[in-house]
Amino acid sequence: MQEKIIRGEYQEGDSFESNIRPQSFEEYIGQSEVKENIKVFVKAAVMRETSLDHVLLYGPPGLGKTTLSHIIANELGSNIKTASGPTIEKSGDLAAILSTLEPYDVLFIDEIHRIPKYIEEILYSAMEDFKLDIIIGTDGQSRSIKIDLPRFTLVGATTRAGDLSSPLRDRFGITCKLNYYTDEELTTIVKRSAKVLGLTIEEEAAKIIAKRSRKTPRIANRLLKRVSDFALVNGEGIITKEISNSSLKRLQVDEYGLDSTDIEYLTSLINKFNGGPVGIESIAASIGEEQTTIEDVIEPFLLQEGFIKRTTRGRQVTDKTYEYLGIEK
Ligand SMILES: Nc1ncnc2c1ncn2[C@@H]1O[C@H](COP(=O)(O)OP(=O)(O)OP(=O)(O)O)[C@@H](O)[C@H]1O
Ligand SMILES: [Mg+2]
Repeated sequence: MQEKIIRGEYQEGDSFESNIRPQSFEEYIGQSEVKENIKVFVKAAVMRETSLDHVLLYGPPGLGKTTLSHIIANELGSNIKTASGPTIEKSGDLAAILSTLEPYDVLFIDEIHRIPKYIEEILYSAMEDFKLDIIIGTDGQSRSIKIDLPRFTLVGATTRAGDLSSPLRDRFGITCKLNYYTDEELTTIVKRSAKVLGLTIEEEAAKIIAKRSRKTPRIANRLLKRVSDFALVNGEGIITKEISNSSLKRLQVDEYGLDSTDIEYLTSLINKFNGGPVGIESIAASIGEEQTTIEDVIEPFLLQEGFIKRTTRGRQVTDKTYEYLGIEK
């Protein structure tokens, strides 16, 4: 349990998320640049009475891509239809979703980089000309049909913008990268979530939880939930500084926000590869993690916090890592 608690990906116990999800730009904390830009584009689309340009949101898991897509729909006053890359397997799956769209609706496609190539091509004309161009029937009997679609906005989310083909990427008028949050922003998020969940939390406690959340709202909320359990069972229900410190210690949450996989990654880089530079394939083999998990989930945070750097010859640890692990160089 401990080792997954500070991973940004969605986990089973996170189902309470939908209750605390911000519903408007005002409630959506941080990401000010992205937010301000999207606000303007949404407003302009509403004023022009046209659809918002297609939006691509990318960044590590748990930073608020799904949340933002719902807010965009809310602010447009439109419906949102949702789908996920891996579940669109046949052209008919996509056609079925597209044919339910009403004018100015938002179609949210999560993990858009996982859409099969041949389906991607159907999206091109849907995005560009608002036409559905598909082939129905089999072999000798097949024919191509064109259906007009209403103007809609595709919001695509991905943790891997680099995996998107360029024709698809080029069809998004608006591309936004979500960044890691500051400790102050996360403190505000923790306090807001506590309020929504009806929890009482001390300012200091909110700061402690925020600081250990790997700069990620999803993790902050998850830690808040766990700490509140300790406060309820072992205290008087109030989330104090002391309860936060002791429960995070029990949950083995590192003060830098590193988990056992990060530590294994860094230790392996030093012990097996002399600190690097070393290629991603070798690291993946050495710690038994998927290359994509390493690139999407583990490395962005280690890079941001200066534990590793990327060079043309591969990944390399920094002095900070030797210091942190207490290993002599
Ligand atoms: N800017 C924000 N302000 C307040 N809370 C936020 C913010 N961004 C995200 N959250 C909280 O974090 C949770 C996770 O966010 P969300 O599901 O939008 O992440 P995601 O980027 O879509 O993750 P994934 O890549 O796994 O799909 C949400 O339930 C929401 O409560
Ligand atoms: Mg999401």
